[in-house]
Amino acid sequence: MRQSRAVRLKVFRYRPGDQAPRYDQFPVPVGPRTTVLDALLAVRRQQDPSLTVRHSCLHASCGTCGLRVNGREVLACVTRLEGLGDEVVVEPLAGAPVAGDLVVDMEGLYRRLEPVGRPLVRSSERAGPELEELVRFEDCIECGLCLSACPVAATDAGYLGPAALAAAGRLLDEPRGADRKAVLGRVDDDHGAWRCHLAFECSEVCPAGVDPAGAIMGLRRRLLRERLPRLAGRRDQAVRP
Ligand code: SF4
Ligand code: FES
Repeated sequence: MRQSRAVRLKVFRYRPGDQAPRYDQFPVPVGPRTTVLDALLAVRRQQDPSLTVRHSCLHASCGTCGLRVNGREVLACVTRLEGLGDEVVVEPLAGAPVAGDLVVDMEGLYRRLEPVGRPLVRSSERAGPELEELVRFEDCIECGLCLSACPVAATDAGYLGPAALAAAGRLLDEPRGADRKAVLGRVDDDHGAWRCHLAFECSEVCPAGVDPAGAIMGLRRRLLRERLPRLAGRRDQAVRP
């Protein structure tokens, strides 16, 4: 059986009201299957019960444990420490207010998803009318990793962002009663599909295979196709005697 080894976690610490963030260091024993979340929960149990970290499902399904490890957006529950070096830096997602240590306020992601209606779950999949507001975009687990990794979102708070644009593309593929025109109007905007700089960081980090960058390219093609008849109509009017 392989021995565990010691890794030093360098963990971002901040509470609203603190003068400045700091990094605390915690030695943790790491085996071949130890995840970042395992190690953080061990720190909380054995070294510092005040460490704030969020999780629920423990299997890459709920999207609540997103954070950055050595500068890269990951789900802590499925990211193993093995192979990440003797010192591992753990920080909250970027571009969102820190609610405490490794937990950020996800309101910015939800605010971006709202204008595209946060599709979609088949009506047959709804548990009941009382849960209707909980429906969400298939595949996307709303973890926010893409938004944290996106260099455009880092500089433009109004940018709709990768998850919402991917959701819009999915909705336009299969509207299921949604207001298609309103969604098209929202994404055909300087802060919508045209704002993306093709960094592809979002697709790199997405743990759910959504491929937001690919979806944004698809959206642009769709927008151009939708514009062509309008442009042709204007041209015909212009040349009419
Ligand atoms: S598109 Fe991918 S990375 Fe972005 S919120 Fe959804 S699951 Fe997470
Ligand atoms: S705890 Fe649910 S995705 Fe990690």
